[in-house]
Amino acid sequence: MCGIIAGIINTNIADSLIEGLERLEYRGYDSSGLAVIKSDQSIIHRKSVGKVSELKAIVKASKTEGQIGIAHTRWATHGKPSTLNAHPHLSHDCFAIVHNGIIENYETLKEELIAEGYEFSSETDSEVLVHLIHQAMQSSSSLFDAVQSITPKLEGSYALAAIDKSTPDTLVVARRGSPLIIGLSDDQIFAASDVIAFNETIEQCIYLEDEDVAAISKNLLTVMNNGEIIPRPINSISGDENGASKGSYTHFMHKEIHEQPQAIQRLIDAYLTDKGLFSNTFPVADQLAISRIKNITIVACGSSYHAALIAKLWFEAYAEIQCQVEIASEFRYRKSIVPKRSLFIAISQSGETADTLAALGHAKKLGYKKSLAICNSNHSSLVRETDLCLLTHAGKEISVASTKAFTSQLTVFLMLAIYFAQKRKLTTKNDTMMDALKQLPDQLSDALTLEPLIEKTVTPLAKAKNCLFIGRGEMHSIAMEGALKLKEISYIHAEAYAAGELKHGPIALIDDKLPVIVIAPNNDVLSKIQSNINEVKARGGQVYIFSDSDDFDQANSLIPIAPAPSLISPIIYSIPLQLLAYHIALLKGNDIDQPRNLAKSVTVE
Ligand code: G6P
Repeated sequence: MCGIIAGIINTNIADSLIEGLERLEYRGYDSSGLAVIKSDQSIIHRKSVGKVSELKAIVKASKTEGQIGIAHTRWATHGKPSTLNAHPHLSHDCFAIVHNGIIENYETLKEELIAEGYEFSSETDSEVLVHLIHQAMQSSSSLFDAVQSITPKLEGSYALAAIDKSTPDTLVVARRGSPLIIGLSDDQIFAASDVIAFNETIEQCIYLEDEDVAAISKNLLTVMNNGEIIPRPINSISGDENGASKGSYTHFMHKEIHEQPQAIQRLIDAYLTDKGLFSNTFPVADQLAISRIKNITIVACGSSYHAALIAKLWFEAYAEIQCQVEIASEFRYRKSIVPKRSLFIAISQSGETADTLAALGHAKKLGYKKSLAICNSNHSSLVRETDLCLLTHAGKEISVASTKAFTSQLTVFLMLAIYFAQKRKLTTKNDTMMDALKQLPDQLSDALTLEPLIEKTVTPLAKAKNCLFIGRGEMHSIAMEGALKLKEISYIHAEAYAAGELKHGPIALIDDKLPVIVIAPNNDVLSKIQSNINEVKARGGQVYIFSDSDDFDQANSLIPIAPAPSLISPIIYSIPLQLLAYHIALLKGNDIDQPRNLAKSVTVE
């Protein structure tokens, strides 16, 4: 979603802002813009609809020079993608702002400002911010004071960066609900929505907290929170947080698919030591409470939700803990019952998904006592707002369509299910389970070797308009994730069904134009899914089977998966479905890493 990069440097900042915007492209956006204060103390701004490359060309062709500036990628919420709606927004050519988030009371604020004579040039909620700043400057001594005076009037979420042409040495930033990080080096200072936006010279950063307002100049950084100066800690930026590159791959998604064996090995090494699973992870004070848990509620969105659906089956099967899984955007608006001795899990790759954060807040109000975040970002809002945290250690995921973060989430859930089973003395097969877990990286590497076959087999699928995915048990959720991957990057309509549900409606769709992807590991429901395949074949359906059994002579196409312990097979079967979606999207020539309309981190409702 929207991304911010702003900064002060000793040379022309426009190029650095464009580079920052390019690094933020992965978040998803539809227009972009920047503003700088020129040496004659005027603000100049440039905007463009479409890719950052278009803004770059405009900036290159025009004289856009200054040492301080703000820039933005916009993902349209209030008003269509257009240059008028693109940020920065200006007031009276004196102030400019960029904003990420949603100002929920913008209509009221806008009416008040219009009544005072302010003119709006965009349909956005964000534009109220810059006029509010202009208004506040009538009674404020500085931009810093003005921003502090307007934030209490705002409802909703914001990360914002503002400049004032009369103080070309100071940038003011503020956050509530949307991430904002300050990046520091000897001669440069930046603020951005994500560490990844910073260039390689920025090695330290400060994570702003909600309600922080900061004044940034070359030599001074002041952070205020509710009227008090707060010294926020300075953190080192690790190598895998900034400067993500595709290496020899054409797409981040392809690279991230291939990183899975290493990512999962890293994860296992982090949580499985000689002393056992999660031996040093949970504070001692929490270990007893964890071992007494009787119920788990999990909320999530998107791929994280699919991972949670599989976790439910594992928690109930291996640890005998009842579990309910809910879509965060539904849970947050529903009155639900808090089960006794329950653990509330919020799972999110980014840790910034607005609905998941709101669901966590709602759970706390409902009375859940203990919360656990499963997250790929150590510095995220979700990690800060939960009692306990398990990081998924997948490394930065840039492709909008989640791959390695998803399999890492599954692996954490599997380890957690085994851990709960151990704590509850339910595992008679502890060694077998540990052995299966340790096999994961090699099994994932094996699954990746299927790529040439998948690439060849799926060619006809690129012409399909619709596609059906079916599976049973955990593989139903893997089918859901496979269908989501295909939708996201190939724009082919795809649905997933529990195979047993075929007869209750979707079978009406079957004809020779509807490919049916079947996820059919050799387990105790294989014969059931074989019957489902027969039903599809009898109606002329084209079947593509992913299985470690070869008992499918009626199949159109079989992708043979290496046999694996059933405990880990949902993780293994994720890989060929990711590759299937990737190669279909590649054949269609789509923008794989930044699919249309999608955002990596959905920070607004
Ligand atoms: C967006 C992304 C998905 C992701 C979902 C949830 O829709 O495009 O890939 O699964 O958000 O994101 P989270 O960061 O909470 O896991």
